[in-house]
Amino acid sequence: MRRTTRSLIVNAILFWAVLFLIIYTNHDWGSTTKTFAWSRIHYKASSTALPEPRGSCPGLEDSAKPALVVARVGAEDRSWLDALAASYHLCVYRTDLQDMTSWQLQVPANRGHEAMAYLTFLIDNYDRLPAAGAVFVHGSRWAWHNDAPDYDNAALLTALNVSAALAPFGYHNLRCDWSASTCSPSETPAQGSLETLARSVLEPWNLRLVSDRALPRAIADLFGGGGSDVNPGSARLLLGRSDAIRSQCCAQFVVSRERMWHHARDEYIALRQWLLDEGESAAPPDDRIAGRILSYIWHILFLPQGESSHIDLKQLNSLACPPADECYCRLYGRCDLDGCSSPGHCRGQYVLPPDFRLPDDWAVRHS
Ligand SMILES: *[C@@H]1O[C@H](CO)[C@@H](O)[C@H](O)[C@H]1NC(C)=O
Repeated sequence: MRRTTRSLIVNAILFWAVLFLIIYTNHDWGSTTKTFAWSRIHYKASSTALPEPRGSCPGLEDSAKPALVVARVGAEDRSWLDALAASYHLCVYRTDLQDMTSWQLQVPANRGHEAMAYLTFLIDNYDRLPAAGAVFVHGSRWAWHNDAPDYDNAALLTALNVSAALAPFGYHNLRCDWSASTCSPSETPAQGSLETLARSVLEPWNLRLVSDRALPRAIADLFGGGGSDVNPGSARLLLGRSDAIRSQCCAQFVVSRERMWHHARDEYIALRQWLLDEGESAAPPDDRIAGRILSYIWHILFLPQGESSHIDLKQLNSLACPPADECYCRLYGRCDLDGCSSPGHCRGQYVLPPDFRLPDDWAVRHS
């Protein structure tokens, strides 16, 4: 065969294959409203021995302030938190060290990044959660994902109006800008789509893609507990090819006590065991992937689901991605902003730094 003919044929095949893939992945094969059986964690722990309760936060029961639950590593300076003690009850966990002589603020293992601290707080303080709610954050003051022009979480947490943030739904992500989120359909294909699958195979080093691909299975394991995918009431467990979970990123958020109590303590224990267990239906061994998957679970746990006991994905997605201008106003009092030309961005508020990181000397130059 002549070379040009052969390349013509190859091109034609590629063209039709890509076209088919695009149509297939974008077509909504199902009904208009899709509900998912994601209201309760049903994961069954494989280990029988559960961690000892070493995570209580001292003084919490006497506090009228919201808790500030901080997941920090030893390398992070914690002095910036002192000024926040005026408005928050501090519960600071070290995720990379276990002091086995202490029964306070200890996590059972360094696994799942911030999730281990957040879940341990919920489990070991379940009966004493503050009426004012809780704010869950990472331990570094300066981080690329903090939604301020200079990325300063101290400024954000000082400005944060917790009661206003909780007023509509009892849960709010601390980010308003949509960059790095999965909110925008044009930037994030459905997690279960062939496009995500194909790209995750072609770019195995891209952890965003790899964890997106792992998300549908993980969610089915967590909410289904290894049961079958067929549920009463036609709600599904597994994300379909065209279903996307839209949410803000980066696992810093505020939750009301009512929404935390919406789940039983045993559900938080099961979720933590999913991280601690090893095996088929437990969390992926790569901690970066496991942590990232959990960063997509919080809003599913905490956003309200209306009357239904199942989750309407479309409604969940719209609650998870409020317009940036409303968010800045409600959370941080930055109202009437100019330049909010798209739902996910207001000019001058936040810019995604190159390569998702701040320059090494950022903290020194800005403190
Ligand atoms: C917080 O928001 C509420 C409205 O939900 C408002 O009444 C209150 O004054 C705000 N607090 C501060 C400190 O701005």
